[in-house]
Amino acid sequence: MQLQNFDIDVFLRAHWQKKPLLIKNAWPAWDNPIEPDELAGLACEPQIESRLIAQAGATWSVENGPLPEARFGELGTKDWTLLVQAADHYVPEVAALIEPFSFIPNWRIDDVMVSYAADGGGVGPHFDQYDVFLIQGLGKRKWQIGAMCNSDTPMLPGSDLRQLAEFEPTDEWVLEPGDILYVPPRIAHNGTAIGDDCMTYSVGFRAPSRAELIADYCDDMLEHLDEDDRYGDPDLKLQSNPGEIPASAIDRLHKMLTDTMRDRAAFARWFGGYNSTRKYPDMEWTPQEPMPQRDIVAALSGGAPLYRNPASRFSFIRHGNTSLSLFVDGDHFDCSGDMVLFAEEICSRNTMHLSSEMLQSEAVTALIAKLYNKGSVEFGHDS
Ligand code: SIN
Ligand code: CO
Repeated sequence: MQLQNFDIDVFLRAHWQKKPLLIKNAWPAWDNPIEPDELAGLACEPQIESRLIAQAGATWSVENGPLPEARFGELGTKDWTLLVQAADHYVPEVAALIEPFSFIPNWRIDDVMVSYAADGGGVGPHFDQYDVFLIQGLGKRKWQIGAMCNSDTPMLPGSDLRQLAEFEPTDEWVLEPGDILYVPPRIAHNGTAIGDDCMTYSVGFRAPSRAELIADYCDDMLEHLDEDDRYGDPDLKLQSNPGEIPASAIDRLHKMLTDTMRDRAAFARWFGGYNSTRKYPDMEWTPQEPMPQRDIVAALSGGAPLYRNPASRFSFIRHGNTSLSLFVDGDHFDCSGDMVLFAEEICSRNTMHLSSEMLQSEAVTALIAKLYNKGSVEFGHDS
């Protein structure tokens, strides 16, 4: 599906990571994908991350889920909001909201957070480190946007809501169902429900920080480095001052570091696995008993479509024209021949039908069996 009243080229050129964009009436036929009651149900589940935020005058309270079901009966009709993270992992109709944004590559996608708010509800003025498309699902929300922030921007003390100490709106819109507001990273924003039953879907994108990349890559590298791989100076010369660390030693030490960091192939392989690691590994599709490859082939030959687990992360890195590395949920598969076509297709959409050619390929079906038995794909039982 393609968004309407929206031009991908103009968006990428003028707005993505640069400035906000309001897209009115973006969906040809908007259909709110999850009912408020169903969302409240998700917030009661222990494995799902949720928060309930209420405001009374200048005081904000935050309760982390899972929430007892009775909690919803105690809430008034004003000034509270419920936020549920990664609802796309549990509700296929919410996962389907990501598909129109596939002009941004998969590896940048984070997840879809869903909020429900009573009249006046919101999380207060704040900024996020991520790009976000805020889709209005139900009811109305006033969105205000403000200045570009950074880690020095003053924040209100003592709250894990990370609210801004000062917020001067520069623009303001009221969004209705099917409207979208794109907000780039670090732009101050504030959404307030207008009237009851306000639901907003935040399709969020991730961008690793340099600190996180270095720390996590170093952790991985440490596992592969030997104790014997160590500074050596068999050419040591007598120094005039034993207190000096000479430039030659610094050069050699620095080279130990940069030689390791410069290995692009090792980095690419690590990053593919790292980035495809599931954020919430609990969404288990792993079969109790591994299914034999021939049974999987039989099911797929009957026309059953192959589905990706919505909580799974799929991406690939090419090596020239004929081979690639497929990364799924932290694992890595070397693909060549027919496997390349399969990997390209399963990475490009949530559901695929396998051609008879692919089903005849031992390498492809062995790969599907591995993916199935680790819970990253399922096949439909309808043909
Ligand atoms: C919301 O849906 O209320 C909050 C979304 C956001 O501001 O990031
Ligand atoms: Co935000």
